[in-house]
Amino acid sequence: MTPVTEATPVKATPTLPDSQTVTEVRHWTDRLFSFRVSRPASLRFRSGEFVMIGLMGDPDPKTGKQKPLLRAYSIASPSWDEELEFYSIKVQDGPLTSRLQHIQPGDQIILRPKPVGTLVHDALLPGKRIWFFATGTGFAPFASLLRDPQTYEDYDEIIITHTCREVGELTYGAELIDSIRNDDMLAELIGDGFADKIRYYPTTTREDSPKMGRITDLMRSGALFDDLGVPPLSPDTDRAMICGNLAFNLELKELFEDYGLVEGANSKPQHYVVEKAFLD
Ligand code: A2P
Repeated sequence: MTPVTEATPVKATPTLPDSQTVTEVRHWTDRLFSFRVSRPASLRFRSGEFVMIGLMGDPDPKTGKQKPLLRAYSIASPSWDEELEFYSIKVQDGPLTSRLQHIQPGDQIILRPKPVGTLVHDALLPGKRIWFFATGTGFAPFASLLRDPQTYEDYDEIIITHTCREVGELTYGAELIDSIRNDDMLAELIGDGFADKIRYYPTTTREDSPKMGRITDLMRSGALFDDLGVPPLSPDTDRAMICGNLAFNLELKELFEDYGLVEGANSKPQHYVVEKAFLD
């Protein structure tokens, strides 16, 4: 008699809902990293928009069920890129980024393919000069917009300010701008010399660098405008997008209202738009 053996159940590889595969991870500092993932074939977005991304949460101790743990992330890559790039903070006790910071190429993340957001060209009236104001990971949507041909078609001058605590936190943005300046494909797409329109103004607040100080203080003192040789923002010529922490966004909004700029939206284009840099 042959013994009856129980068939071993075949374990299916778990597939996450809306899963995408990580293709590259770069760690910039102990607080910052960026990563690239595959792009869903059907995903269309406007440069500057965000999507919800994340991982499966821990199993519920009672039911054993797992729920997705999702956060809003600006897409840092331009809309023509075949992959998607994200730029993230690492919060050691943050529910998502404490785990997300350990992803490796080949891993899967969840990505809900429903892009939304206000930092889009459609929310601004035509202008001469566009300002991008970022703190920390608030640089991400501008990493997308700075690689979008429309930015250069719509404006004569593009000023990007980035304020971080420490010099190392500027590297992602600085390298990206360098790479844009040397990108032959973009030059072919947009036109030779397109990158001459970019003015990059990095500042730090807690470590020595060539330009120290919060951008809001540098605006109030007039140093920003003296350094760049441009007049303060005016509703006639200037358009602006803001992405940083809440206090920064509110302070800049107040400054803009003093300059006479009006906040816009997708449904009603105006002079400036704001998005919070989403923190864990
Ligand atoms: P500071 O070092 O003076 O707080 P964080 O990492 O906390 O999000 O901050 C990122 C950068 O934004 C820091 O350089 C910080 O300066 C700056 N910052 C924070 N709050 C404001 C604000 N209300 N206005 C301007 N800059 C700000």
